[in-house]
Amino acid sequence: MCGIVGAVCERDVYAILIEGLKRLEYRGYDSAGLSLLNNGNITTQKTIGKVVDLENLFGESLPSGTVGIAHTRWATHGVPSSINSHPHTSGPISVVHNGIIENHSELRKEITEQGIKFSSNTDSEVIAHLINLNVCTSNSLREAATKALSRLDGAYAICVISTDDPGKIIGARSGSPLVVGLGIGENFMASDQMALRQVTDRFVYLEEGDVAEVTKEDFSIFNQNGVLVERDVTQINELDQSSEKGEYKHFMEKEIYEQPKAIINTLDGRLSGDDVLNNIFGLGSSEIFKKVKRIQIVACGTSLHAGRVAANWFSSISELPTQIDYASEYRYRNPHVDEDSLFVTISQSGETADTLAGLRYAKGKNYLSSLCICNVPTSSLARETDYSIFTNAGPEIGVASTKAFTTQLVALMLLALSLAKSRGRNPKLRARVVAALRALPEILLESLKLRDTIVEIAPDIATKDNALFLGRGIFYPIAKEGALKLKEISYIHAEAYPAGELKHGPLALIDEDIPVIAMAPDSEIAEKLVSNLEEVKARGGILYVFSDPSISMEIESGKLIKMPKCDFLLTPIIYTIPLQILSYEVALLRGTDIDQPRNLAKSVTVE
Ligand code: F6R
Repeated sequence: MCGIVGAVCERDVYAILIEGLKRLEYRGYDSAGLSLLNNGNITTQKTIGKVVDLENLFGESLPSGTVGIAHTRWATHGVPSSINSHPHTSGPISVVHNGIIENHSELRKEITEQGIKFSSNTDSEVIAHLINLNVCTSNSLREAATKALSRLDGAYAICVISTDDPGKIIGARSGSPLVVGLGIGENFMASDQMALRQVTDRFVYLEEGDVAEVTKEDFSIFNQNGVLVERDVTQINELDQSSEKGEYKHFMEKEIYEQPKAIINTLDGRLSGDDVLNNIFGLGSSEIFKKVKRIQIVACGTSLHAGRVAANWFSSISELPTQIDYASEYRYRNPHVDEDSLFVTISQSGETADTLAGLRYAKGKNYLSSLCICNVPTSSLARETDYSIFTNAGPEIGVASTKAFTTQLVALMLLALSLAKSRGRNPKLRARVVAALRALPEILLESLKLRDTIVEIAPDIATKDNALFLGRGIFYPIAKEGALKLKEISYIHAEAYPAGELKHGPLALIDEDIPVIAMAPDSEIAEKLVSNLEEVKARGGILYVFSDPSISMEIESGKLIKMPKCDFLLTPIIYTIPLQILSYEVALLRGTDIDQPRNLAKSVTVE
């Protein structure tokens, strides 16, 4: 959620750090700061606000320094303020930290008893003091940092610089990602390689417990036992257009329109004829799938909604039962694991702390195997899971997930088909779905054309304080996703219900002030859904219904919006598009910060 950048160069690093922070800002954005090492002195500047506020502190005169570390923060311990911003300093030491130090209170007490005064209310400041306290008994900054880290419980990715040991950055990770970027005569560190794409395309991903020592000419990595180790260098080839909004006003808007292409990329190389290819989840996956008797899904937020849709597909296509849990709840309910259960995580970032913790917990249980649906191949989740499929959606910058969701759905459908294929189930249905998947990107383009209609209804919703989303069956999770999207970027309170539940309570809410947004595809319960919506009409509710062309309904207050035709099993993907556009248009009218909504972060790397 917070972002780290570090650079050690021949040239001044200020511009590299600022550009890196801007690229990470979507992850956390309530304050920012940096430390620069110049002629044996460290200068630190920090501010509440965005990276541009940090830049403004310097004005026209750009500061010098060939070694530096920088941070953009999303507050967890201590309110957003310039004092609580990183870097934190202690004597010669300056530190930036992502993650949460769980034993910070004990450490703070212990350090205070040694006469050291804290300047901030953060958990992170203990790291700076601990390293400083270890300096005099250590031979190097790396040794002092390693000793300090051994005292920490919790999660961290850190970068440290020191005036006593200039010309280097020490980085370390445990529970939060950190990467070394390799240049020519200059090297870098960051919590996400995206921060460094303007300076390099060669990266080394630190593993859990690793400590890295980076100078401008060289780098070395020591594992959790302090042993010098070799880690692979990865060259990233894809073109980096992620930081450009191009013709779009917001990244979210751009990412909505990228969906047809993103889905083509998710399907690329995974279908053959009228079936899925074998082993698209990794070598041996098709064999393992033969044994699967049950699925456990663990995810958060939008990714969890994708899992809820997929649970229906696993049942109808793969003929397998599915249990699904919020990642933050899963490991605390003492789950019983049936024999031959497959553990599935879904995550755009692959760094969500609860989802990762769920996977690590599951590894100690008797699961047959683990599998992840993820958008970031270099993420911790991808590296720690037995089998994986990458959604190939390209970087998602807008905090509100759009293309990640629809591509997750496509990847989950590939999983449903692969499981069915390995288990010898439903060949005709598989062929039908494969044909529908191939047609999907074109139908998505049709869905995107609904924008003009949605622009007309957005003002009615933008003036309200509440909204209700309704869907039945496979559309209930889509209703939940629609409600989540609206609330997170427009700050309108929105709830979702299975339409049949209305009369068990929520019908009491219905009046002209609570718009009801419903999805009415052509399903076997379409008539029942229409009856539910009639109940809303009868109570004076305003209805916006996205429906199959075959559904007829008179709507006096509100609007009936006809959706393009598509195979029923894939309709959740098609109907998601207008809900994304609706939340975007409403947020636009309300003037919120669409790409970086208040209080949120793109990648939630704390539990
Ligand atoms: C909502 C949203 C979040 C994420 C959730 C999980 O638009 O983006 O709810 O879906 O934080 O993140 P990942 O998928 O990265 O694990």
